[in-house]
Order: sequence, then structure tokens, then C-alpha cells
Amino acid sequence: MPNQPTRATLQSASEQAAAALAAMPLRPEVVSCPLCSRQFLTYSELSEHYAADHADSVAPAAITLNVNGKTCELIIEPYLTLKQVLQFHLGLIGAKEMCDRGACGSCTVIINGKPALSCNLLAAECEGKSIETVEGIAVNPRWRPLIDQYCKWDAMQCGYCTPGFLVSAKALLDRNPTPTEYEINDALSGNICICGTQPRHSQAILEAVKLMAAEVSENG
Ligand code: FES
Ligand code: FES
Repeated sequence: MPNQPTRATLQSASEQAAAALAAMPLRPEVVSCPLCSRQFLTYSELSEHYAADHADSVAPAAITLNVNGKTCELIIEPYLTLKQVLQFHLGLIGAKEMCDRGACGSCTVIINGKPALSCNLLAAECEGKSIETVEGIAVNPRWRPLIDQYCKWDAMQCGYCTPGFLVSAKALLDRNPTPTEYEINDALSGNICICGTQPRHSQAILEAVKLMAAEVSENG
């Protein structure tokens, strides 16, 4: 039997997201020098090491980010983007990097309630802000109909752009729970799919809107 492609399901998406969130480190296990890999007990020891041994290099910064409701203490190179920190320091690989120049939307996250391109932001700029990623959305039961309809309507081919679309859709539905097709297409206009799935996104979102409205009226 030839290899069958694995069809995305609500359950597989939620399980993967839950596993990633459970594994997200809330503070670094070791403080290691990104240049020479020496390990230290504290951030101040690392800073002293930089001053002594790498005086010409930009020293790492200690920052705190609020990601999906969790407070994460990080020691990062200050030139890293939010996208890079989510992936390399927190293990959250949902946001994707397709263009790395703010043109495709595949790296979209939500910052303080608004969609934002994580490839275009320094992580250090995001201190004190609320950062929401596709993983946080995928584990929230409220958004199950949205993910389910994405799976049902096959609003993905390679899937690389899909997390960015989902995050933009969630940000739209937060501010407008009953959007028209025009409003959906407008909200997703910063997201690009090179596989040509664009028309299926509005279909999936419109169906999700109906299901979510039915849930709300059922629950009073
Ligand atoms: S990777 Fe960020 S907009 Fe394309
Ligand atoms: S599904 Fe492949 S880029 Fe959108």
C-alpha cells in the first residue's frame, strides 16, 4: 500500500499544540554563551563573561515574554525576531517563516489582540505584551469549530501558510464574530497561499461562524 498522506484533523492539531505548549520552557535550564557555549549559573555571570571574552559582540539580553498566557523568562540575542524566539527558544513552530520580510503572513501571531508579523518584530520589543500563537488557539475549545472547518474544507495543501491564516481568522472573529465573506477576504488579505487555497479559507470561516453562533445560542 503506497504511503497515504495524513489528513489533518481537529484532534491531531489540538494534540500537537497541547504537546508543544506543555514542553514550552518557562525559564532557561542552563545559561549558556551563544558564542562559545560555556555555561553559567546566572545571567549576570554570562554578562561578565561577555564583557571579558566577547567585548566586541552584542551581549544577550534577559527578557520576559507573555506567550499564550504563560510568563517565559528568556536569555536571547537581542537581534532575534519574535518568530525566531518562538521557534528556537520556546519550541513553538506553528508560526512559519515563508518570506521573512513581512510579505506573506505565514508568521502571523496576535499581539495585544491584533494580528502582527512575528518575522518583522524583535522579540525584545514584545516585552510586556500579550502574545498569542496558533498553538494557544488550537488548544482552546472555543476555536474548535474554526480548526475543524479548516480540516473539513481542506483549506490547506502543503499547510505552510495555514497557521498564519488561522491566526488572522481568529483575530478577525474576536473583533467581528459574524463577518461577511468580503470582510473575511479583507482580513486575510495579508496572508498569501502559494498553493492556491485562498477561496477555501472564507468557506471554512463562514461555516465555523455558523457553528459557533449555534453553540452560543445552545448554551444560552
Ligand atoms: S514570514 Fe513573516 S510575513 Fe512572511
Ligand atoms: S497550503 Fe501551501 S502555501 Fe498555502
